[in-house]
Amino acid sequence: MRIDAITTFPSMYDSVMGESMMKRAQEKGILDFRAHDLRQWAHGVHRKTDDYPYGGGCGLVMMCDPIFSAVEDVLECDAGSLPHDDGSPAADDAKVIFMAPHGRVFDDALAVELTEAERLVFVCGHYEGIDERAYALADEIISIGDYVLTGGELASMVVIDAVVRKLPGVLGADTGALTESFAAGLLEYPQYTRPAEYRGMVVPDVLTSGHHARIEEWRYERSLARTRALRPDLLS
Ligand code: ADE
Repeated sequence: MRIDAITTFPSMYDSVMGESMMKRAQEKGILDFRAHDLRQWAHGVHRKTDDYPYGGGCGLVMMCDPIFSAVEDVLECDAGSLPHDDGSPAADDAKVIFMAPHGRVFDDALAVELTEAERLVFVCGHYEGIDERAYALADEIISIGDYVLTGGELASMVVIDAVVRKLPGVLGADTGALTESFAAGLLEYPQYTRPAEYRGMVVPDVLTSGHHARIEEWRYERSLARTRALRPDLLS
């Protein structure tokens, strides 16, 4: 999968995309990730990407033109720093995603849906928001929850992580992403590792019994009980 992020803070992606599973996914050739500085597509000496809001009010609003130019260039792989004919999937297979608090609330089902695209292009807003006309480019507007962040970058990284870890070959075990919380509509069962006793707290006997059928049954029951107690909304 190819993922592009269009942002005024491209270095925010360095740590998250340069560590752990996101790094491994790129090393294995499963993910091709690129962050682009929106200022590349801004004009004038100051390369301004925002301006005062029509109608007044505090804060600045991100301008349409740099966003339109950036998305169009990235989709065409035709921006100065972008390679041509590099084998990236064509723009037709791409989904353009704007991160914003008024978007569709992100969940596991949407993560699964996004794994089906060959390309994702994230547009990350800042300041007081984005000129409404820029949303004409969006295939999807996504929020990661009912709170406001200072920008869409962190939110886009949450989405990227949740999507990329589902791609075949990213997690070590084939079944990793399938048995976890939400994939089966239930929260995950409790997990333990050594030692068998720690500060008086012991690992349930069944897990050290070696009896696989009983372990499976116990795990399912614990998942169900935990979901009923903590997230009854998932069962309805
Ligand atoms: N940008 C600011 N807040 C956000 C949120 N909750 N989700 C997605 N993008 C955002």
